Amino acid sequence: MRETIFVIFMLCFFLIVSAADPSSSSHSHHDHQQQEPTYTKFVVNATDLPLEDYYDYIIVGGGTAGCPLAATISHSARVLLLERGGLPHRHPNLMSQEGFLATILAANAHDPYSPAQSFTSDDGVPNARGRVLGGSSAINAGFYSRADPDFFTRSGLQWDLNLVNESYEWVEREIVFRPHLRTWQSAVRDGLLEAGVAPYNGFTLEHAKGTKIGGSTFDERGTRHSSADLLRYARTSNIKVGIYASVERVLLASSSPKSSSRVSAIGVLYRDLTGRYHHAMVHKEGEVILSAGAIGSPQLLLLSGMGPRPYLSSWGIPVAHHLPYVGHFLYDNPRNGITIVPSVPLEHSLIQVVGITDSGAYVEAASNVIPFASPPYSVFIRTPSSPLYLTVATLIAKISGPLSSGFLRLGSTDVRFNPVVRFNYFNNPVDVERCVNGSRKIGAVLKSRALNDFKFRNWLGAQDFRFVGPALPPDQDDFLQMADFCRRTVSTIWHYHGGCVVGRVVDPDLKVIGVDSLRIVDGSVFSVSPGTNPQATLMMLGRYIGLKIIRDREKNK
Ligand SMILES: Cc1cc2nc3c(=O)[nH]c(=O)nc-3n(C[C@H](O)[C@H](O)[C@H](O)COP(=O)(O)OP(=O)(O)OC[C@H]3O[C@@H](n4cnc5c(N)ncnc54)[C@H](O)[C@@H]3O)c2cc1C
Ligand SMILES: *[C@@H]1O[C@H](CO)[C@@H](O)[C@H](O)[C@H]1NC(C)=O
Ligand SMILES: *[C@@H]1O[C@H](CO)[C@@H](O)[C@H](O)[C@H]1NC(C)=O
Ligand SMILES: *[C@@H]1O[C@H](CO)[C@@H](O)[C@H](O)[C@H]1NC(C)=O
Repeated sequence: MRETIFVIFMLCFFLIVSAADPSSSSHSHHDHQQQEPTYTKFVVNATDLPLEDYYDYIIVGGGTAGCPLAATISHSARVLLLERGGLPHRHPNLMSQEGFLATILAANAHDPYSPAQSFTSDDGVPNARGRVLGGSSAINAGFYSRADPDFFTRSGLQWDLNLVNESYEWVEREIVFRPHLRTWQSAVRDGLLEAGVAPYNGFTLEHAKGTKIGGSTFDERGTRHSSADLLRYARTSNIKVGIYASVERVLLASSSPKSSSRVSAIGVLYRDLTGRYHHAMVHKEGEVILSAGAIGSPQLLLLSGMGPRPYLSSWGIPVAHHLPYVGHFLYDNPRNGITIVPSVPLEHSLIQVVGITDSGAYVEAASNVIPFASPPYSVFIRTPSSPLYLTVATLIAKISGPLSSGFLRLGSTDVRFNPVVRFNYFNNPVDVERCVNGSRKIGAVLKSRALNDFKFRNWLGAQDFRFVGPALPPDQDDFLQMADFCRRTVSTIWHYHGGCVVGRVVDPDLKVIGVDSLRIVDGSVFSVSPGTNPQATLMMLGRYIGLKIIRDREKNK
């Protein structure tokens, strides 16, 4: 039962956010097929890379943070960026808003050609992560919003806020667009304001209490842009990007010949699709940087012998450096919400509007026309290829934080297999309270005049919503009922983070504690999710750390 609800709920959201703007729905998929992006001239299939080679920086993971990081460092040093997946524009579904659903539903745990890798946490919630150049920014819902000011004081890094702004702007110039609101998003905006999520802040990329329109990485035509586009900024002569390059280990050596107490990263071992092993090594003064994401980076540390000593020994992995918190402090923000079948025709829409409350939750929305071509119907319909259509609209809440955390363990010593993760949703009572607050806000939006037009009149003449999946409890003042709704309908908004958090696994410069020449730059270092949605801040982080590294190199010259 619980599983069934998850599946229905996930499906609804997937279908909903597979949204296509009607203005672009007349475009067929091939319209989104890109010309070869200019960066492909320095992209190489790993099979064609040398079996041993030297670089100044080796970045593992061509994802949301890894691409801007590589592009930036290439202006000062020789960079190798290794990505286990392929190129985003080779997947037409991935390049368009319409294709969101198809990409996620086709997510596969093992197929290296599938740009989304599926996994299910021990909590029983299905989830996904990117396996393609651009990483999860190439498969996500495209909403773009900067971090909350608090994030910069709580995240453990000593941020240079001028450089933060400069780095956000660098990203935004290239890949962020202003969305155009239609029926559902406009109604949700008005409903949020009626529900007291004020003031109205219009279109802004900033995080501010109230209701706003955020940015999107889908352009006016509904074509996706991702962090891979930021490779356009790279210095071509100084960068190589290896695709279908699955990194298996970080290679370590004693930092000094005299003492064996400190280790240093000297390169990585990776495999191409034919199964051949390659060594990529860093020059002295160089670094290995992990940008493999909140699931990939802790996994690689463990496989390379950096982690809790007894745990590594239980897998027979030789311990290179005891780091007790690798894989710990892993978080995922629960998603809860409702889905309705509206009484009026609705366009498709991705997340465009967000309500930023001051009670621990963010409210977002999406709408879509979902085709139903189920076998019983096709018997009666002459052209089985023409499906029935059902419009659904959704309101969702994401809690800030969260405070509940879980952990990551290995599922295998083969890097291609998903690690085992557990998020422990709602273990901390504050998270439950935040979810109850967010769900009550959804209840208030449903009661607003702005949403009246989407109700059906029942046979008694009363008007009400038609829900798909669970509705909110009738008595929303009843905390226990609301808390039960939160636990019963929990799903993911895919903003999982942590596993190598600042202060436990990495220092404030994101260097791995006790290991030389090794950093981690991705969502695994955060113990709170930045702002309403994380991709803006992860792309900013890649640029930001890249600029810092360049500055430090200049200083040391
Ligand atoms: C379905 C979905 C919808 C989302 N919607 C939004 C949204 O609308 N707005 C928003 O802001 N955020 C959204 N997010 C969240 C956001 O996209 C992620 O938080 C962010 O992209 C994570 O960035 P990252 O750099 O930490 O990791 P990733 O972008 O996942 O990058 C990790 C990269 O490392 C590669 N890699 C991993 N292991 C290895 C290895 N061993 N060898 C080589 N390469 C490896 C992976 O293939 C991947 O490319 C969504 C996420 C998903 C999955
Ligand atoms: C960064 O940008 C924000 C929004 O534009 C602004 O409020 C803030 O003062 C800026 N910070 C710095 C240090 O320039
Ligand atoms: C990369 O190399 C593998 C192994 O030779 C091959 O099967 C695959 O088709 C290549 N992919 C691309 C996109 O060139
Ligand atoms: C929930 O909302 C109430 C009322 O706005 C507020 O007082 C409380 O602090 C909120 N809880 C959390 C955990 O933010």
